[in-house]
Amino acid sequence: MDGFDHHSEAFARNWRHEYARLRDEEPVSRTDAHGGYVVVTRYDHVKQALLNPRTFVCRREVTPKGAPEAVVGGVTIPTNPFRMGMMEMDPPDATFFRKLLVPWFSARAVEAAESHLGDLVTWCLDRVITSGRMDVVDDLANPLPALIMLDLLGLPMQNWSKYGVVLHQAAYREKGSARQIAWLQGDLRQVLTERRDHPPEISTPVDALLGAEHDGRPLPLDVAAEMVFMLLTGGIDTSTGLIAHAVCYLSAHPEQRDRLIADPELIPGAADEMLRYFSPGTGVARTAVEDTELGDAPIRAGERVFLALGSANGDPDEFAEPDRLELTREANRHLAFGAGLHRCLGAFLAKAELVLLLRETLRRMPDLHVDESGVRAYPTIPLISGFQAMPATFTPGPVVGPMSGANVPPPRAERLRRAAAELATDGAESGEEVWQPTDHEAVGGHR
Ligand code: HEM
Repeated sequence: MDGFDHHSEAFARNWRHEYARLRDEEPVSRTDAHGGYVVVTRYDHVKQALLNPRTFVCRREVTPKGAPEAVVGGVTIPTNPFRMGMMEMDPPDATFFRKLLVPWFSARAVEAAESHLGDLVTWCLDRVITSGRMDVVDDLANPLPALIMLDLLGLPMQNWSKYGVVLHQAAYREKGSARQIAWLQGDLRQVLTERRDHPPEISTPVDALLGAEHDGRPLPLDVAAEMVFMLLTGGIDTSTGLIAHAVCYLSAHPEQRDRLIADPELIPGAADEMLRYFSPGTGVARTAVEDTELGDAPIRAGERVFLALGSANGDPDEFAEPDRLELTREANRHLAFGAGLHRCLGAFLAKAELVLLLRETLRRMPDLHVDESGVRAYPTIPLISGFQAMPATFTPGPVVGPMSGANVPPPRAERLRRAAAELATDGAESGEEVWQPTDHEAVGGHR
């Protein structure tokens, strides 16, 4: 098959149809684009490859069995100019970094951080609520994931727009984005150098990386910075895309929106269905390290393979009526977060972000209406499907959060201090015993 190219504008405009055609006609096919690669579109095949990391590897230098020379691999096609942390490693290195980072992003950790996530959702909504208008991308979808990641990593909150915009533009390969990425990586190295000498009050994944030993030696600063860069890239524009898709969809389908308003308990299930239906991550790449097969189709050692997550999530053999967004879909085993060894580290966080945001937006802006004539989708979706602009209006409402006047929300440690001080004042006035945050609460985060 010639002509398939997940970087093309034609693909961005028509991906559902393009994937459906491939699934029917040639589920494991080949394209000449970007030096040639295999395109895998059926749910079973995509999952089979993701669950077989010995044969379908993530690392960037692959010497296939029986081949004379190394192939350039990695999880994108074409290969990224820089390594993407453990995403582009295989065991044992990938497992080492996963073990180090997983506790910070587990279901429990995310649940414990929920009130912090809520603070940031409130701050974003408070910034626009009295005006009755916003751009969903600039005012919600872009700032929220960036603020959440910086807060969680204890990085300067005022960097949200610099970092967020760079990662946002890199997602659709805006001109100059490679230079901006190099700037961001340099900036992170500098921030981490200072951080190593001045550890913060509340320990974060960044400090776990800076204090880690690998192969009996302290982890080099460059590698720690690479991991932090991975967390930011993984955590920011993916969620940006998902939030914008979700808000736009609910504005265009008021009956579905009203169901969620009437029964907010449906929101977590709806968030999974939105992940399936919109599949913000278009697909991921692997390299076959040995001759193998997917279904009846042979794959040769050294071939680059594109696992089309968006297509797997639309496969009618796995999902009944896949082209319908069914808010209460059951047994939704979607692959929007991948599967197996490299399954998204931020899956719990990403889902919690969307759930909190929808809950609050539907409550405070129930009549939010996106002006579809002003919506601009990414011109290309090689990595992530999202939007550049999405103007919207709603009935204005009151500001409710304590941080609404701040240009940037204060960092978590500061918010905890203020909350404790407020409680102390209230307690002193009422004569009650005063609550103080314990170490555990200070890290986990209930106020
Ligand atoms: C809607 C939001 C998100 C989507 C759709 C998404 C999607 C994905 C997918 C498909 C993978 C697998 C990559 C592969 O197999 O090659 C992945 C991995 C990863 N994601 Fe996410 N992600 C999202 C949010 C986040 C967030 C909030 C974080 C923040 C921590 C994050 C961090 C990561 C990391 C670090 C990996 C690499 C895991 C590894 O290689 O072991 N992601 N993500």
